[in-house]
Amino acid sequence: MSAAPDTLANAPSEAPALDGEAVRADFPNLSEEVHGKRLVYLDSGASAHKPRVVLEAMERFYTRDYSNVHRGVHVLSQRATAAFEAARATMARFLGAPDERGVIFTRGTTEGINLVAQSWGRANLGPGDEVVISEMEHHSGIVPWQLACEATGARLVVLRMDERGVLPEAEITSKIGPKTRIVSVTHISNALGTVNPVARIVAQAHAHGALVLVDGAQAAPHLPIDVAALGCDFYVVSGHKMYGPTGIGVLWGRYEVLAAMPPWHGGGDMIKRVTFEETTYAEPPARFEAGTPHIAGAIGMAAAADYLMALGLERVEAWDRELLAYGHAVLAEIPGLRIIGNAPEKAGILSFVIDGVHPHDLGTLLDMDGVAVRVGHHCAQPVMDRFGVSATTRASLGVYNTREDLDRLASAIKKALSLLL
Ligand code: ALA
Repeated sequence: MSAAPDTLANAPSEAPALDGEAVRADFPNLSEEVHGKRLVYLDSGASAHKPRVVLEAMERFYTRDYSNVHRGVHVLSQRATAAFEAARATMARFLGAPDERGVIFTRGTTEGINLVAQSWGRANLGPGDEVVISEMEHHSGIVPWQLACEATGARLVVLRMDERGVLPEAEITSKIGPKTRIVSVTHISNALGTVNPVARIVAQAHAHGALVLVDGAQAAPHLPIDVAALGCDFYVVSGHKMYGPTGIGVLWGRYEVLAAMPPWHGGGDMIKRVTFEETTYAEPPARFEAGTPHIAGAIGMAAAADYLMALGLERVEAWDRELLAYGHAVLAEIPGLRIIGNAPEKAGILSFVIDGVHPHDLGTLLDMDGVAVRVGHHCAQPVMDRFGVSATTRASLGVYNTREDLDRLASAIKKALSLLL
């Protein structure tokens, strides 16, 4: 039996909770039936559904304002440019950034981390330097830094976690030190749900002159983000996990840091002047946005950010906590079920294994009952290694989930177990 972590079980919050059922009505795809049953979508950690306002914003752009940006004197190009730059301002507001100059549109979190690892990393890392990551990083928080370390001779250092999925203070103080050049850490673990002490990590890194990149892919849909309050140097998010489109994301960077970074991709829109002898580069953010961007994606992502801000991120966080505590309680009643990830500070994720049951078999049977979960290693193989499992079943929450969804999950698991065991 798994007990809910204490702070989740108590989970009081000042903010009034959301009404998940009412929110669900904003998401057209959720009215779909699966195998003749009301869809219970518990895979928002992989990708979240889109509210109607996001779909409408993108359709409006393609049907009324479509053109390329930053290139035309004609009306549609001006409208497209205005909408694209307004999206940048919205994303700055969503992230608590001081202004929009630090907001770079990318293809997503993965590209944002690769951009920093390649541009900043190659210019600033060398033998003797250390790059610190955590044991609970998604592969996109590991591999880009391995590539940067291979290219520069820097060393990768890993903050280990305890059996709850928490980074102990002793790891932070002993491993972030004078050799550290950058710390790259996830805000919320996609495989465990742990909410990391980002402000504490930033304080430790800055005390040693190191920068901090925060992977906010799982955090942006679950809690208010304030990069100024966190004090980090880079923050990366993906549109599709925060109810926006795929293929778009944001890398926010502290402007002085971005301004000192060399370009990454070369092409149109990122230059001041090109000759065959010499090319000079635009200031950020344009320096890091070579080529025609995903204009509709940026507009859709901003519509999603506006949607979340209208719901109220404090209410979103309170609802997530409430559902998570409820989910822990209903899963605790299932014999042989073990929750992987019991951090006191936790959000959005219920990852578990059940004695004698392969997650892929369970996931298939849950799907037959209309319950969508993710099974596998969740692109976090070192997390699986740490807990001695090859895979978990993961239910991940969104703003549209309800207690009824979690009851459906629990009863579908019990039904599956009666067939499998
Ligand atoms: N990173 C995504 C997940 O956690 C794909 O499922």
